[in-house]
Amino acid sequence: MSLYALVSAGGAPGVTTSAVALALGWPSQVIIAECDPSGGDILAGLFVGHLPASSGLLPLAVEAGRSADAAARALWDQLIDLDDERSRLLLAGISDPRQAAAIAGSWPALAAALAGVPADVIADCGRLDAAPAVEAVLSAASLAVLVLRPSLRQVSKARHRVEILAEILGGRDRLVLLPIGDGPHSAREVANALGVPVIAALPEDKKTASVLSDGAGNRRDLVTRPLVRAATAAGRALRGAVPGSSRAEADRTEAERSAVDAAAPGGWTGYTDVRAPAAGRLAAESVALAAAPVWEPAVPGPSPGAPPGAAPPGAAPPADGDPAAPEPLASGPGAGS
Ligand SMILES: Nc1ncnc2c1ncn2[C@@H]1O[C@H](COP(=O)(O)OP(=O)(O)OP(=O)(O)O)[C@@H](O)[C@H]1O
Ligand SMILES: [Mg+2]
Repeated sequence: MSLYALVSAGGAPGVTTSAVALALGWPSQVIIAECDPSGGDILAGLFVGHLPASSGLLPLAVEAGRSADAAARALWDQLIDLDDERSRLLLAGISDPRQAAAIAGSWPALAAALAGVPADVIADCGRLDAAPAVEAVLSAASLAVLVLRPSLRQVSKARHRVEILAEILGGRDRLVLLPIGDGPHSAREVANALGVPVIAALPEDKKTASVLSDGAGNRRDLVTRPLVRAATAAGRALRGAVPGSSRAEADRTEAERSAVDAAAPGGWTGYTDVRAPAAGRLAAESVALAAAPVWEPAVPGPSPGAPPGAAPPGAAPPADGDPAAPEPLASGPGAGS
């Protein structure tokens, strides 16, 4: 299966949020791997601390320190199920940036495990600096995705990251851009300025993004929201853009193909502007994740529609007897080690 490595040039354009949105709309089994050396965000953000953080990247890195095979065998035990079907899973990131030094030597084995797992993997690799700790993940990726806002400031920072990525990837064949939200520049201008194709675009959708990044607001019907609908189309485009992928044509509808032809910048045939994605089966599609009790907002008292006192599956006991209190972050992977 394929490994998609998402990175940014800084400025928090929405890498983590986009990774979650992509996973929500992914058509096959997918793992979100929080590889950001500055720490994972999803347990404290999307899950508002409601899931115990006893597994994840740090314990996996311990196995990876033994051998790549040990990491590959241990990977499934370190994943958190995000739905009942195990179709969306999470490898929670480190909880303290100081742990990054401890796992530095394990990245090659971790990358091999992520690239070899029989599921697609969306790796949140965070901000790219000059000597990325996650170089092995980027290098093993089927596709590296540079997430950015279409602003001059972001494009200017991205220019150097494109060079760094091209060096790691041995060229630009496996590199694409994913612009987020509105900006003064069009996707075509961004692609031309950076010499890298724009694979898709995700819309500005603050309401949905706040749920995905911070667990804030109504979590119902996420798959029908603009951000997740666009991410579903973006996921199809990403799968189709993996070099050598036979999904490219199979996954595309006639309408998408026309959009590609109309919008493609010179020489690139993989461009898809997904600001108006095809609705597909999204309205009918049921994503258990969206309905799971763990998604209920952490507000005092029973949430509308939730059974009184309902606790999310696998949820940690409430802290200090307060049903609304999130699990203390100190219980993260490797806490106390
Ligand atoms: N498509 C979007 N529309 C509106 N707001 C968004 C979108 N994507 C992300 N955001 C918002 O941008 C902020 C940063 O998002 P996020 O944490 O995903 O960025 P990041 O690139 O992962 O940042 P960092 O580098 O700090 O990890 C959050 O408040 C999030 O809700
Ligand atoms: Mg992030």
